[in-house]
Amino acid sequence: DKGNHRHFMAKEIHEQPEVVSHTLTSFIDMVGETIRLPEDLPFDWKDLNRLTISACGTASFASMIAKYWFERYARLPVEVDIASEFRYREAPLDKGGLSIFVSQSGETADTLAALRYCKEQGQHTLAVVNVPTSTIAREAEVMVRTLAGPEIGVASTKAFTCQLAALAGLAIGAGKARGTLSAAEESELVHALIEAPRLMAEALRLEHEIETFSRDLAKASDVLYLGRGTSYPLSLEGALKLKEISYIHAEGYAAGELKHGPIALIDETMPVVVIAPFDAIFEKTVSNMQEVAARGGRIILITDAKGAEAAAMATLKTIVLPEMPAVVTPIVYSVPIQLLAYHTAVIIGTDVDQPRNLAKSVTVE
Ligand code: F6R
Repeated sequence: DKGNHRHFMAKEIHEQPEVVSHTLTSFIDMVGETIRLPEDLPFDWKDLNRLTISACGTASFASMIAKYWFERYARLPVEVDIASEFRYREAPLDKGGLSIFVSQSGETADTLAALRYCKEQGQHTLAVVNVPTSTIAREAEVMVRTLAGPEIGVASTKAFTCQLAALAGLAIGAGKARGTLSAAEESELVHALIEAPRLMAEALRLEHEIETFSRDLAKASDVLYLGRGTSYPLSLEGALKLKEISYIHAEGYAAGELKHGPIALIDETMPVVVIAPFDAIFEKTVSNMQEVAARGGRIILITDAKGAEAAAMATLKTIVLPEMPAVVTPIVYSVPIQLLAYHTAVIIGTDVDQPRNLAKSVTVE
């Protein structure tokens, strides 16, 4: 049932404040503002020297964002791998280490194979899954659920933001358990996470304006997405979302990589979506954006009020989100990224919920 939406994807984008809130309340103690980690874990966070995360597609981008969180909050080195690469690489793994697998369906063949490989290597295994009865959920030692509910649209939206919520919780919980976060820092981060659903609802209110920017994207044959820090994997997700449902070629890049190649692509016909909340690395991203502007590139900047003011340039279109703590920006900035792709595809007239050549669950390698 699509409710009053034209597509399941639209419905699922709009459900996000609610399902992210469900997912958060499943592991947050709202009164104490603390993270409740899964009980009876077969490993101790303090004993871990590194983490390995394997996933495919959108789930791999959630995992890349989680890398920034685990490294910052739990001071744990993280290796994120695309499951189809990891499974054949015979990666050396410490015995008793922890491997995490992220999957909406819990049936993705490559992710499942990566899980089985890690078990054979004596790794502890933890799966972040949306389907609790799935094979990956059953075979992993520990299951952490995302409570996105059934996702029908082939392009993942609400499962992605719920994965981010769950992974943020795990990283903060791990930081607390390892003593790299104080109780005060934990409660500050938890407090920020609790605000995410409200901030997502505010982002959804910008839909009409975002739709007008989509008219610009719909005319393009190529689109570049740029970001730094956690906005870098989000730029990869933005490009994936656009290409899978609108069939427009899109690439995500770490903004700092621009001058190492992709800047050659920039001309007046090339829209560039820049994801840049006003944070510690904002100035760096803005200087990359100026390089794009100087070459006539058409920029859509997704930022907040401070960022919009600091970046002010004539050529710019801006999507201005509320200001928010860094830990929630990937969750909230997902909303305009998804809406841009969705409306672009609707304008072009592609089959948004059932894009050509794609299946919801990839059970063959
Ligand atoms: C993109 C998308 C795919 C999936 C990928 C992994 O919108 O949906 O890239 O994210 O096939 O699927 P799961 O999460 O089911 O393992």
